[in-house]
Amino acid sequence: MPTKPTTTIRIDPDVKKRAGEVFDDIGISMSAAINTFLKAVIREGTIPFDIKSNRPKPNSNSGNAKLNHAFIVKKDEFYTEYGDVEKEILNHGKLLKGKSILCNCDDPFESAFFRFFIIYFNRLKLISLTSTCYAGSSLAGKEYPLEGGTCAYKAVVTEVPDDTIVRPDGSLDLESLFSMSGNYLAHLAGDGDFRSDECKALLGEVDIVTTNPPFSLFREYLDLLESHKKKFIILGNMNATTTKEIFPLFRDNKVWYGESIRSGDRKFYVPDSYPLNATGCGIDDNGRRFIRVKGIRWFTNLKACSPNTSLELTRLYDKDEYPFYENYDAIEVGRIQNIPMDYEGVMGVPITFLDKYSPNQFEIIMLANGNARTNVSSKTLSEVNYRKHPEDRGGVGMINGRRAYARILIRRKSL
Ligand SMILES: C[S@@+](CC[C@H](N)C(=O)[O-])C[C@H]1O[C@@H](n2cnc3c(N)ncnc32)[C@H](O)[C@@H]1O
Repeated sequence: MPTKPTTTIRIDPDVKKRAGEVFDDIGISMSAAINTFLKAVIREGTIPFDIKSNRPKPNSNSGNAKLNHAFIVKKDEFYTEYGDVEKEILNHGKLLKGKSILCNCDDPFESAFFRFFIIYFNRLKLISLTSTCYAGSSLAGKEYPLEGGTCAYKAVVTEVPDDTIVRPDGSLDLESLFSMSGNYLAHLAGDGDFRSDECKALLGEVDIVTTNPPFSLFREYLDLLESHKKKFIILGNMNATTTKEIFPLFRDNKVWYGESIRSGDRKFYVPDSYPLNATGCGIDDNGRRFIRVKGIRWFTNLKACSPNTSLELTRLYDKDEYPFYENYDAIEVGRIQNIPMDYEGVMGVPITFLDKYSPNQFEIIMLANGNARTNVSSKTLSEVNYRKHPEDRGGVGMINGRRAYARILIRRKSL
């Protein structure tokens, strides 16, 4: 078979690092991204985007800047189905009782999170619900209830009428809700960016944060919650777990997946302008456009009420079936169900292991991927006896001269 020639290109180190982080998030290599770009150039017969356009400043309020910004955030405009929110959050119901909730990426007139907490407000005995709407959202303003200012506002709810809040047609009676003395809508001073000082200040006032944050800012979002020591239940993509900021949280049992989504894809509503060109996209009976996204998981640091069950292991170790890595003292286990029940050493398992992970059964040591050498402490690298390999791109497990997929290195806990 002909091999692909290697091409050397000069890239500014900072550009390379930042682009690499984005590709990590998406789950593709730098080489795959560059190949995709080159193929698009061939297909389109030109550079497939406008190289003259400037990135608009997120805080700008000018009409054009707002339009451009809406285009940029379009890829973040995935609206969660109510059923997905209800199923997960009710798992944590006991822990939410008597708490104050913040949904900080949520237009209250559109968000399934806001709807859920209003419907369950009294049953969960919530103290308050605060929801902030981002001015850059392509939906913000559609149902915009306030005069003047930008479309960024917050809804604060401290009381909900029993029984009458859901109208016979299924919509929420928001007019009655906001006519109650304990509830109000108010402009935000800025654009409602979760990173703004006024939105960060709201974090300090609440017990639990829950939303589906913009996918492109997921790491930054989770980092903010961590730095504010917040409890959270948020939706994200499992690709995020392989980043150097998020993987350690899973390793150290500070964050784990929620119970309700462990496989398959999820349906999300998208704005009317969103192209429906991928498998599983469509328009539902109510005329709402939707897409389906794989790899979606709930990320939480709240213990759900159901127990975390151990993985049932049925296979025995056989040295001929489990190759040893050339650069780690560990065996390759290509499928979770093949983890041998009697192997005491270190094993490399797929990223989907996190769906089955029980800290009582296994210890997570590190992520063996292309950035391992820089992301992992030298103590950990020596624990797994890592040896630099010329082809391992910084730490990918090597088997017979070939790179394995990114693997989580784990070890069984002693019984
Ligand atoms: C993935 S959507 C989810 C919306 C809603 N939470 C839901 O699940 O239905 C992310 C939302 O965050 C908004 N958003 C994008 N960037 C933001 C930012 N920097 N700060 C706050 N919200 C942002 C988007 O406009 C969008 O409404």
